[in-house]
Amino acid sequence: MIEYRDIYKAFDHPVLSGVSLTVESGERLAIVGPSGTGKSVLLKTTIGLVVPDRGDVLVEGESVYFGTRGALDRVRRKVGYVFQNSALFDSMTVYDNMTQGIREDELKSMRAPQVLARVSRALEDVNLDPGRVLTKRPAELSGGMRKRVGLARALVGHPAILLYDEPVTGLDPVNSAAVSLLIRQIAERSGVTSVLVTHDIEGALELSDRIALLDDGRLAFIGTPLEFKSSPEPLVRAFADRRVASEAAAERMEVTT
Ligand SMILES: Nc1ncnc2c1ncn2[C@@H]1O[C@H](COP(=O)(O)OP(=O)(O)OP(=O)(O)O)[C@@H](O)[C@H]1O
Ligand SMILES: [Mg+2]
Repeated sequence: MIEYRDIYKAFDHPVLSGVSLTVESGERLAIVGPSGTGKSVLLKTTIGLVVPDRGDVLVEGESVYFGTRGALDRVRRKVGYVFQNSALFDSMTVYDNMTQGIREDELKSMRAPQVLARVSRALEDVNLDPGRVLTKRPAELSGGMRKRVGLARALVGHPAILLYDEPVTGLDPVNSAAVSLLIRQIAERSGVTSVLVTHDIEGALELSDRIALLDDGRLAFIGTPLEFKSSPEPLVRAFADRRVASEAAAERMEVTT
């Protein structure tokens, strides 16, 4: 469904150094790893928000970077993206932000009440009351509410692929549990392919078919939750045992020196 082929990306320093990874159709893949290791950058290469220096991404066999004209648009239409920082349009109401998540051709074919029903349903799915938030602007919402609007906007288009960048980080425990449950239900109900970047290891182990550990711009591990839990790899152990990233890094230094 998604194939990352030998992705390299540097900004002022190397971030991704040859990441290859295949996500199967209908799979739930979690990506974990220390802060600043390139998880968000990798996710962004899926839809051209970050262009790799080398390598390519294929979505349903279609090359994002070396494909035919319009490939990127076609890929973007298949993908719902939950941004780490919500990425809502500040000048627009929640309603207008939400309609951005529906494909343009589909939106044109829908009547206003249908659009409203669709938008309201997606907001209700993330525990938001449409009556209270639809006419608000993002600045009038709490951080957690903005986060959930960002999630609802990714869901409203019923995409074949969902990319989640830390969908529960910063949410209170009740909403964090509700959103985790929702992600699981969406995957089970619709068979959508999902890639979930998260710091919530416990959630990742519960929610995903496979876990990828990204470290220092490389794939340090990929396997099932069971393999993750039983891997002797020190970095994996540090993560599986939910010790902090800096500790894991220190341990790795000891191992390699
Ligand atoms: N647009 C950009 N311009 C310059 N540097 C960038 C850009 N985007 C990311 N970086 C750098 O790339 C590195 C990886 O960033 P990225 O956001 O992918 O980390 P991450 O693994 O998602 O971390 P976190 O867990 O904190 O979200 C960081 O050093 C970051 O500063
Ligand atoms: Mg990130």
